[in-house]
Amino acid sequence: AGPNAKIARPAGLYAPERRNSRGWDVNEPVDLAALEAMRAPFADHVWHFGSAQAVANPARAGDVVGHYDPARVEDVRAAAAAARNAAPDWAARPAKDRGAILTRAAELYEAHGGELMAILAREAGKTIGDCVSELREAVDFLRYYALEAERLAAPPRGVFACISPWNFPLAIFTGQIAAALSAGNAVLAKPAGQTPLIALRAVALLKEAGVPADVLHLLPGGGEIGAAVIAEGGADGVCFTGSTATAQAIHRSMADHLAPDAPLIAETGGLNAMIVDSTALPEQAVRDAVMSAFGSAGQRCSAARVLYVQEDIAAPFMEMLKGATAELTQGDPWQADTDLGPVIDQMAYDTIAEHVTSRADAWQPYPARGLMHPPTIIPVTGIEALEREVFGPVLHVATFKAGQLDRVIAQINGRGYGLTFGLHTRLGARIAKLSDAVAAGNLYVNRNQIGAVVGSQPFGGEGLSGTGPKAGGPHYMARFTQGAQGAVEG
Ligand code: NAD
Ligand code: ALA
Repeated sequence: AGPNAKIARPAGLYAPERRNSRGWDVNEPVDLAALEAMRAPFADHVWHFGSAQAVANPARAGDVVGHYDPARVEDVRAAAAAARNAAPDWAARPAKDRGAILTRAAELYEAHGGELMAILAREAGKTIGDCVSELREAVDFLRYYALEAERLAAPPRGVFACISPWNFPLAIFTGQIAAALSAGNAVLAKPAGQTPLIALRAVALLKEAGVPADVLHLLPGGGEIGAAVIAEGGADGVCFTGSTATAQAIHRSMADHLAPDAPLIAETGGLNAMIVDSTALPEQAVRDAVMSAFGSAGQRCSAARVLYVQEDIAAPFMEMLKGATAELTQGDPWQADTDLGPVIDQMAYDTIAEHVTSRADAWQPYPARGLMHPPTIIPVTGIEALEREVFGPVLHVATFKAGQLDRVIAQINGRGYGLTFGLHTRLGARIAKLSDAVAAGNLYVNRNQIGAVVGSQPFGGEGLSGTGPKAGGPHYMARFTQGAQGAVEG
């Protein structure tokens, strides 16, 4: 669904010679003993990339994961000048050579997977399952964009600013950089303030793989450094993933500081809905709603925020939904039976808690502990009851009567977002109708609505949810070049 999906697919789609990350077959159960053996040497490690600022573990109060030195505005200026000098040589290399470096980086990510997952678990509070899938996604982005670059028809833009969020601090951080680099650009990379350590380790591996020092500059720090990257970096294009409000601020700043033709690729937030009608298989819909809303502690842009259940089945469905939610285990991310860990920091916790405590009818299966915000279900009349994206484990549930579906769709579309949409039904005609009617970048039918797979399920939204083109898809890379959007060979 959505305009992104309507662009004709080029021949040779999805680089058939490419395979998604080796050794992490999604059809096989995770070998926990092997994973633990990889991670164990780093379980209590403290990473020192500087000394100025400590990085805390959101799952365990007092656990310092490492230290780093935030970038200053003068570092941004120096990095911008060095990237500008280094860009022509990097652009002049054949795409195959740049791709070989990124492919080598993918191998290094896999070889150092235990350490990377240890950082993800402790710095970002990620569960084992989320660590595994995040590492896989990062590796897949490296390999996918390395191959996609060979099909590009136009030269790179020059220097790209890549600004990423904390919720996929390895996968999205790496994906943005891999696309910009493999297209032939130099990069100023600004990771989220909450997750600098994984970015520092990833950049070390990218450089070990052969990315020249002055072609990739890491500028760790918070939003003020992101703002300086736009205002002082002189970039030829910006790739941003994060909240809609920040994308809008960046867009305004770009108008003041960058050339008028500098593109902004923005992947932003969503108010994502899932509809369950009376023909759906309840056990499957409950499982998929729980996973979509509470997986990764709800800290996914793709997460289900509003569940619409057809009134006829609502009472038994709600009982099953609460029962399944109460079964979720919340705690230490690196325990095999943990389903969800903490939210990222106190500010995130307070924002979610403020929303929840304003609702007397909010339901939780167990109390909060530290930054472990419990999975929460809130009855609402519809999506209009949400003021904004609540970025945590909170699912709002509304009911609709048979015959009201058009009104529900109009309400969902009326909010102006368009990221993911989930539909549970056994009516083929309804699937066809809603696929066209709902404005969403990614539509998922009779399954969960999170976890898009690189190269198979290009991911991205429309409206307030992003500019496109979709990440991990065949149109993405062209935006990092001087060619028209979508101008790829093949
Ligand atoms: P955020 O917008 O607060 O921050 C994202 C990045 O922007 C960080 O690196 C931050 O330091 C930087 N930043 C903040 N202010 C800036 C400014 N004025 N100028 C330049 N950079 C600035 O988002 P977050 O809290 O890190 O991430 C959560 C948000 O990201 C949610 O809204 C979520 O939906 C969204 N998200 C979207 C996708 C997607 O693919 N659509 C994926 C993941 C997360
Ligand atoms: N790409 C991530 C997902 O699909 C955000 O959940």
